[in-house]
Amino acid sequence: MKTWFITGASSGFGRHLAEAALQHGDRVVLTARQPGALADLVALYPDHAVAVALDLTIPTQIPTALQQAQDKFGVIDVLVNNAGYGLLAALEETDDVRLARNLEINLIGPLRLIRAAIPLFRQQKHGHIISITAIAAFANEVGFGVYGAAKAGLEAASESLVGELAPFGIKVTVVVPGPFRTDFIKRSLEAVPRRPEYAGTVGKFDALLQRINGRQPGDPRKAAEAIYQIAGAEKPPFRLLLGKYAYDKFEKKLKAHAAEMEAWRATGLPTDFTA
Ligand SMILES: NC(=O)c1ccc[n+]([C@@H]2O[C@H](COP(=O)([O-])OP(=O)(O)OC[C@H]3O[C@@H](n4cnc5c(N)ncnc54)[C@H](OP(=O)(O)O)[C@@H]3O)[C@@H](O)[C@H]2O)c1
Repeated sequence: MKTWFITGASSGFGRHLAEAALQHGDRVVLTARQPGALADLVALYPDHAVAVALDLTIPTQIPTALQQAQDKFGVIDVLVNNAGYGLLAALEETDDVRLARNLEINLIGPLRLIRAAIPLFRQQKHGHIISITAIAAFANEVGFGVYGAAKAGLEAASESLVGELAPFGIKVTVVVPGPFRTDFIKRSLEAVPRRPEYAGTVGKFDALLQRINGRQPGDPRKAAEAIYQIAGAEKPPFRLLLGKYAYDKFEKKLKAHAAEMEAWRATGLPTDFTA
């Protein structure tokens, strides 16, 4: 039996993952800005679930939430950085407040949480840190510059953590979804007033997102089961792509990177000192 600590457990991926873990007999620390939103799950699994307040924009809540988890279950086996939200805006349309808030919730908050959990994981000599990023981290779209940057930052930090934490028996994984049928587009995608200059680029992408809302190909229940499986794997992957859209995009981008690297090799390669 594992003990999970999941951010953003109130809806979407976080909620499905929490339900999957509880159905498998695991214990879950469910965190949300409003823990009341988790009352039904706690009522269903009173011995295995606890609801804890955690707003990633309030750093002081992080140690308190981790302490509450330890007080209740004594251990955290899997930490899932799931909470996050999108910002759909051209950089020119993005003000400082939105820029900082997006990086705070999608990048800085998760890094603070990971950092705060490391001493416990080191003491336990085990732990698995799973962060939900997005295909935008590797193959981005117009209008997702800040969101993609935050998710790419979380991936880069996670890659560094693999080597930093392996000596302590701590595993690190990023989970990279394409479009999944959660509330993300309706509830978690912040829009900004659109400048007419971006109607044909960001505006077009926005319209596409609104069109696919409710018809996204990804099934979050299946995603939750896939994440549940890697948490139990002896050697989990560093990166788990979720859904055909993410696989196709990732593969296409890898090929494009390789082709561009070759096309410009003669220009970039001979820039070292010759002796
Ligand atoms: N669905 C997709 O297509 C998709 C694709 C790629 C990546 N993702 C990523 O998947 C993760 C989950 O999103 P979702 O699709 O499941 O959407 P969702 O159902 O809207 O869930 C978003 C979650 O983030 C939480 N959250 C937002 N701001 C927060 C804050 N300041 N502090 C703590 N929690 C906060 C929300 O909690 P509250 O109840 O407190 O608002 C909610 O539980 C996100 O990181 C998102 O970037 C989703």
